[in-house]
Amino acid sequence: MGKKLAVSIPIFITIIVSVLVTTIMLNTKPETSNPNLNNKGETMEKSAVVYFSQTNNTKKVAEVIKNKTNSDIFEIRAKNPYSEEDLDWTISDSRANLEQNDPEARPEIETEIDLSAYEKIYLGYPIWWGTVPKIINTFIETDALNGKEVVAFCTSGSSGIEESLNTLKGYGLNVLDGRRFSASASENEISEWLKSL
Ligand SMILES: Cc1cc2nc3c(=O)[nH]c(=O)nc-3n(C[C@H](O)[C@H](O)[C@H](O)COP(=O)(O)O)c2cc1C
Repeated sequence: MGKKLAVSIPIFITIIVSVLVTTIMLNTKPETSNPNLNNKGETMEKSAVVYFSQTNNTKKVAEVIKNKTNSDIFEIRAKNPYSEEDLDWTISDSRANLEQNDPEARPEIETEIDLSAYEKIYLGYPIWWGTVPKIINTFIETDALNGKEVVAFCTSGSSGIEESLNTLKGYGLNVLDGRRFSASASENEISEWLKSL
C-alpha cells in the first residue's frame, strides 16, 4: 500500500502539472498576434486611409500611410472619370476648373465607401485651386466621416493645406491634424509626421 502510494503521487503530480501547463499555453497568446493590441497590450483604433488622386501623387502618400499605420485603404473614384483635358487647369472652362468655381458642384462618386468599422480616417486629396476637389465635398456629405477622428493629408504644387482644412472643419468634422506633402515626399518625411500625431 505504502509503495503504491509512493509511485502514484509523482504520477499524479506530473498529470496535474501537464494539465496546468497546457491550459496556460492555450490561453496565452503573444500580444503581437492580435492586430488590435499594441505591444503594451492597449487596444488600438482601427484606421482607414481614404483618398482621391488623379495623377498618383496623393495615392503614393496614401499607400505609405496605409503601410505604416496598418490601415485599410479606399479610393474615392469619380463615377465619371476625369480625362487629362478635364484636369487641365490652364483651360478656364476645363471640367475641374468649372467644378471648383461652382459652389453647387458635387461630382458623383462611383461606389459608396463604408467606414463604419473605423475610428480614425486618414483623408487624402490633391489641392485644386487652393482647397479640396469638389468630389471631397460630395464624399463628406455622405456623412461617412461623421463621428470619426479625421487626419487630413494633401499633395500640391505649392499651396498649403490650411484652406482645405477650413473646408473640412466647416462641416463640423473632428480634424486632428493635417499635412501637405510635395509630389516627391519621402517615406521618411511621411513616417516622421505619423510619429508626431
Ligand atoms: C484642377 C487643378 C487645380 C490645381 N490647383 C492647385 C493649386 O491651387 N495649388 C497647388 O499648389 N497645386 C494645384 N494643383 C496641382 C495638384 O495639387 C498637384 O499636382 C497634386 O499633387 C496632384 O495630386 P494627385 O496626383 O494625387 O492628383 C492643381 C491641379 C489641378 C488638376
